[in-house]
Amino acid sequence: MHAGISNRGIDNPANAAEWALAEIVNQPHILKRAVDEIDRVVGKNRLVQQRDLSQLNYVRACAREAFRLHPVATFNIPHVSLSDVTVSGYFIPKGSHVLLSRLGLGRNPEAWDEPLKFRPDRHLNTGSQQPVQLTEPGLRFISFSTGRRGCPAAELGTEMTMMLLSRLLQGFNWSVPRGTSLLDHLQSKDAFSSPPLILHAGPRLPAHVYPMTS
Ligand code: HEM
Repeated sequence: MHAGISNRGIDNPANAAEWALAEIVNQPHILKRAVDEIDRVVGKNRLVQQRDLSQLNYVRACAREAFRLHPVATFNIPHVSLSDVTVSGYFIPKGSHVLLSRLGLGRNPEAWDEPLKFRPDRHLNTGSQQPVQLTEPGLRFISFSTGRRGCPAAELGTEMTMMLLSRLLQGFNWSVPRGTSLLDHLQSKDAFSSPPLILHAGPRLPAHVYPMTS
């Protein structure tokens, strides 16, 4: 189900944050680095706010890496070519149904070093003050896609994904339940075939920080 349109889209921030969380918890040094960043930027006495998100560059890199490695679906929504066109030497006649392989792009060994490894560092812009973007206009993977039919809500989708992931990381101590493994979840090809993610969550902030419902 898409956060914005339910009839044709399929992406959503909850899916992106869930994959990112599974990968992060699976590698404790990445979990520590992400949580340390949040503690440094935000602290433990208030929840992450929207204004913090641009400074959480390592968490942004984790979310971007989750989009690369775990597209919500194996293929992008089909598009129909309006005219004859040649792309990278391939002739595509007018009227063709064009499907981009999201799995193939994000895991392409010609574009990505060790493509099956979850390595957020690959997205950190060394020497740049700009926040890591979750969009990929070069289509080396597909998150919000690009062009005329690309997602018009990339900025909103980025903020929602980042807010959800950051607060989950900030608010809870995560662990894998004894006797279970994340491997089945992490090795599945898309959100439709993955088993549910089961983790333990314990509070990690002072009680007054959590919103109370009366
Ligand atoms: C993590 C969050 C999101 C992701 C990864 C995402 C990704 C995408 C992708 C891949 C497409 C299809 C592009 C194509 O056809 O090639 C799309 C289309 C679209 N998205 Fe999103 N989206 C997200 C959130 C949202 C939200 C929050 C909204 C609205 C509030 C939204 C509104 C739309 C609309 C209206 C389209 C159709 C655009 C068109 O066909 O012209 N998306 N999105």
